[in-house]
Amino acid sequence: MGSTEDLDYPQIILQYNNGFLVSKVMFTACELGVFDLLLESGDPLSLDVIAARLGTSTTGMERLLDACVGLKLLSVELTQKGALYRNTEISNIYLTKSSPKSQYHIMMYYSNTVYLCWHYLTDAVREGRNQYERAFGVSSKDPFGAMYRSEEEMLKFLAGQNSIWGICGKDVLTAFDLSSFTRIYDLGGGGGALARECVSLYPNCTVTIYDLPKVVQVAKDRFIPPEEQRIAFHEGDFFKDSIPEADLYILSKILHDWDDDKCGQLLAKVHQACRPGGGVLLVESLLKEDRSGPIETQLYSMNMLVQTEGKERTPAEYSKLLVAAGFREVQVKRTGKLYDAILGRK
Ligand SMILES: C[S@@+](CC[C@H](N)C(=O)[O-])C[C@H]1O[C@@H](n2cnc3c(N)ncnc32)[C@H](O)[C@@H]1O
Repeated sequence: MGSTEDLDYPQIILQYNNGFLVSKVMFTACELGVFDLLLESGDPLSLDVIAARLGTSTTGMERLLDACVGLKLLSVELTQKGALYRNTEISNIYLTKSSPKSQYHIMMYYSNTVYLCWHYLTDAVREGRNQYERAFGVSSKDPFGAMYRSEEEMLKFLAGQNSIWGICGKDVLTAFDLSSFTRIYDLGGGGGALARECVSLYPNCTVTIYDLPKVVQVAKDRFIPPEEQRIAFHEGDFFKDSIPEADLYILSKILHDWDDDKCGQLLAKVHQACRPGGGVLLVESLLKEDRSGPIETQLYSMNMLVQTEGKERTPAEYSKLLVAAGFREVQVKRTGKLYDAILGRK
């Protein structure tokens, strides 16, 4: 920014203005199954075939496909039979449901839940609190009471949370050598994608997913295959119930849901339960110390405002919470991807 051209024609402002239109085009193509159909077909398909197979209008589908071409999510070839559409490589990998790196579920959560909450972003900033009541008519003291307002919502949330670990799981779990920890508890382990990544990276560990009873049931029934012998389950509320002894506690995207007081309470409990010599691994998206970025983390922090009681923090803020709870030798590793790792020792 800063040159005369930029000020005469503010491209960046126009891009930001259109930001949510871009997201919605991608979400809609995912939701309607455009990328799945084109992957299954193997061959490029015409507008008429795509619209017929997905049960949409041709008028709407033509606009959607063209916009996806503009966004480089699809490519188009003009043939004698007319325009034929196919997935780009990045869409095959990240936007189809069946791909191991699929981001489909997080997109559906963004499109159907986060998007509705963000409609009330102005109210969230004015009031400094989440917007579940306005967006969904549910009021709950605990944001997870509101988030899990139906089994369907809970499933969407957990599947969405799982998506990211296909991309970032290895980085956060290998930021430190965790091979000396054998009994690991993944507190608030949700759908268990990170736990699965952990047992595949560290052959000597067992990981127990500790989460609210209804979440553990869903993790068992829907996400963790029964043959996964090194994953165990523990139903509990980490604020109210006891936390069993372990060598390492993973708290992945947990502290960002809560204010400093609640984080302090939870970390003190974890410290008490932790075997001497053991540790705690925080997995979070870290702000720069001067809070000037990264932009993704700043946006996530706004999302925490709209959806939870928490916020994204700087490494110094997490270190302070860990030290106050009794942990020492706190080390921070930025992965260069969306999520980072902090290790504290008892
Ligand atoms: C943002 S999700 C993170 C899930 C998972 N750790 C991950 O990184 O994908 C927060 C998790 O904390 C769990 N949780 C929230 N409150 C809890 C409580 N009081 N006791 C146990 N788990 C809780 C939620 O059910 C959810 O699975």
